[in-house]
Amino acid sequence: MRILVIGNGAREHALAYSLSRDPQVTEVHVSPGNAGMSAVATLHPEGQPLDIAREVEADLVVIGPEVPLVEGLADELRGAGFAVFGPSKQAAQIEGSKTVAKSVMLRAGVSTARSKRVEVGATQEDIDAALSTFGPTFVVKDDGLAAGKGVVVTQDRQAAVDHIKAVHRGGNPVLLETFLDGPEVSLFCLVDGETVVPLLPAQDHKRVRDNDEGPNTGGMGAYTPLDWLPEDATDRIVAEVVAPVARQMVEDGTPFSGLLYAGLAWGAEGPSVVEFNCRFGDPETQAVLELLETPLGGVLAAVANGTLADLEPLQWKEGYALTVVLAADGYPENPRKGDVIEGAQPGGEDRGIRAAGVAERDGKLVSAGGRVLNVVGTGETLAAARAAAYEVLQTIELPGGHYRSDIALPAVEGKISVRA
Ligand code: GLY
Repeated sequence: MRILVIGNGAREHALAYSLSRDPQVTEVHVSPGNAGMSAVATLHPEGQPLDIAREVEADLVVIGPEVPLVEGLADELRGAGFAVFGPSKQAAQIEGSKTVAKSVMLRAGVSTARSKRVEVGATQEDIDAALSTFGPTFVVKDDGLAAGKGVVVTQDRQAAVDHIKAVHRGGNPVLLETFLDGPEVSLFCLVDGETVVPLLPAQDHKRVRDNDEGPNTGGMGAYTPLDWLPEDATDRIVAEVVAPVARQMVEDGTPFSGLLYAGLAWGAEGPSVVEFNCRFGDPETQAVLELLETPLGGVLAAVANGTLADLEPLQWKEGYALTVVLAADGYPENPRKGDVIEGAQPGGEDRGIRAAGVAERDGKLVSAGGRVLNVVGTGETLAAARAAAYEVLQTIELPGGHYRSDIALPAVEGKISVRA
């Protein structure tokens, strides 16, 4: 099987890495890819996905990021006869528009925060009136795509007003929401129409600094599985959230095919939806795929070919996996590019490194984005997985680079609990 992965982040590196270990996969191609993943895939930095899919005679195209999905790349490739892992443009609006996602959830009877849309052009009076029915805590979301950085959760009313105005200046409406209390869970589900197959639940760390301080980012680290969740948590999320949404989307004539990512808060009553994404999450994928025993190519092909219902149950490795993101100086506000990275080479040996915002200069890797690379560690315990990841991270140097030192620490210390 020849597989083309679209994207250039650590998530796509992780996908390419797992695919390269599947005996049924003969070739892995990535477009555009990045200089850190050339050991596991043939890179195609230039050109349109459709042309590249034709050139490499792809048996399957896997679309990583949300932007090309929301813009309709899966439809274009399917229209040209390719098997594609990734939803149609219409189905991808579950991520592309928070308003669409709310509407689907409401009709599917799925628990989520109460929300109100504040349109571009709203006056200060309109904004004040809308805010007075929420918070504190204020949850202000960009209605469109914002790479994980469109959400502000704050006690400060003025900060909420400022974010509303900033999103409006960018041309998007805003969604105000009630704050959902409880630890966050990311559950990735393979979805093919009404068929839903969950992967292992994971937890992301979205704030830039330790102790969940600083602004939201695309994600600074993640781990899996989550021992602090009730035993039936995955079954409940599938039954109460993902399956009803998948059914609703079939009923709406916008069936989902690909990876449906439910971002949830686990409150006193169980799971409530914070957001849906229409693709694998980053950085959770880097950890989750590390524990998947079943070869990935066949799994993704089953979704793309509409045969997920016939797939054997997924097999998982014992133990834990954890990933930590090394970010550039100034991330998330204003990441600096062009710094030389020591301790990781272009297409270098694995050591759990999954490259993201990197480029090659004079035979060395240099930073080329906000989240520069990830290190994945595994272990029999979560503490051992943490130690493995941080040990490798300490051998990598990036001027001004920073990472969180507390990924999964509250879980290791038994400080996360769910209310009964
Ligand atoms: N982990 C957050 C995201 O992928 O959007």
